[in-house]
Amino acid sequence: MSTPHFEIAVIKGDGIGVDVTDAALAVVNAAQARLGGFQLHYKELEAGAAYFQRTGNDIAPGAQEAAAAADAIFLGAIGLPAIRHADGTEISPHLRLRDEFQLYAGVRPVKQYPNAPQRLADPRAAELDLVILRESTEGLFFSCAAVGGGELIGDSEARDTLRITRATTEKLHDFAFKLARKRKQRGSPGRVTCVDKANVFRSMAFFRKIFDERAAHFPDVAVDYNYVDAQALDLVRQPWAFDVLVMENMFGDILSDLAGGLVGGMGMAACAEIGDQHALFQPAHGSAPDIMGQDKANPLAAILSGALMLDYLADRADHPPLAAAALAIEAAVEEGFAREQIRPMEFGGDMGTKAVTAALVALVASMPVARVV
Ligand SMILES: NC(=O)c1ccc[n+]([C@@H]2O[C@H](COP(=O)([O-])OP(=O)(O)OC[C@H]3O[C@@H](n4cnc5c(N)ncnc54)[C@H](O)[C@@H]3O)[C@@H](O)[C@H]2O)c1
Repeated sequence: MSTPHFEIAVIKGDGIGVDVTDAALAVVNAAQARLGGFQLHYKELEAGAAYFQRTGNDIAPGAQEAAAAADAIFLGAIGLPAIRHADGTEISPHLRLRDEFQLYAGVRPVKQYPNAPQRLADPRAAELDLVILRESTEGLFFSCAAVGGGELIGDSEARDTLRITRATTEKLHDFAFKLARKRKQRGSPGRVTCVDKANVFRSMAFFRKIFDERAAHFPDVAVDYNYVDAQALDLVRQPWAFDVLVMENMFGDILSDLAGGLVGGMGMAACAEIGDQHALFQPAHGSAPDIMGQDKANPLAAILSGALMLDYLADRADHPPLAAAALAIEAAVEEGFAREQIRPMEFGGDMGTKAVTAALVALVASMPVARVV
């Protein structure tokens, strides 16, 4: 039987997006070489603010079609604050891809690693391991300017619309329950918390109603509820008490940054954006113009996004070697922190992007196979 291969569309984008993409692919390739059983072919596509400045387009001709045809898309970061459209908004083709590919499930894991910054003094914070599931195609971002939303009434008023549809919300909640079930197999509690504002908004009461309907199909997964303001409090007061948190787009945008801050910073914030037909993987951070070109970026968010991509491909193709490769990367990050072989500059360490990447490539290459399969 021939080795299965997968096409990956790669958009490095702007600023540190380029460096962290190179880092992520180097570590993914190390995991592939260590474990075997699959092959990845990369196709690089041009898009972003620098590309826009050069050409007047935010994405290369044919690139969106090529991304659509790939098994997965990997993206570094897009946007540079000094390069904007005439209306003042930034160059954001990735938001359009999210919309056109209907990437509704935004998966943002938040995990405390040993010797990585632990922002909360309570020792239970060392156990922090949760996932924020951010709906990523509607909610308040239904109105985002990149997809032509929002309304300006002269110079006196502005309105944005928050949209919750049954079709997307059912899929989102099902995704949350399946994710909690999968995490339960790996030792997590197996619980989904519905984060909303159902006490005030009809849209949010509808979101919760659909949550309850779908929960009935997953009796093995525990459920609870939190209003978004109380959830912000709880993410600081007792984040270790949560497993999978499912929420509307804007709430997820804000709370996932807060949660990322609890375990170090944006350099730890991995992200998967998954739809029924397509999926895009990227660090949750931006192009970080303040540190670009200086080898200072922490590549771990991108590297862990690479592990999410392998895990997604494993599920999609029902091909366990890919899941083993994903686990190898996660284990290498854990081990690297535990042995203090990963010391990113983002946390005051002495290792730049290239040094962290090299350390992880070496760790993945030396990972005992028994540890990872
Ligand atoms: N998905 C995306 O591509 C995406 C996401 C957010 C922002 N952006 C764009 O990126 C540009 C900069 O935005 P911003 O400054 O608000 O957010 P940012 O995430 O780029 O940077 C915020 C802060 O975090 C730091 N930081 C981010 N990633 C880091 C890493 N890997 N290692 C170390 N430090 C890191 C930066 O140095 C900066 O101080 C803007 O043009 C914005 O539109 C893109």
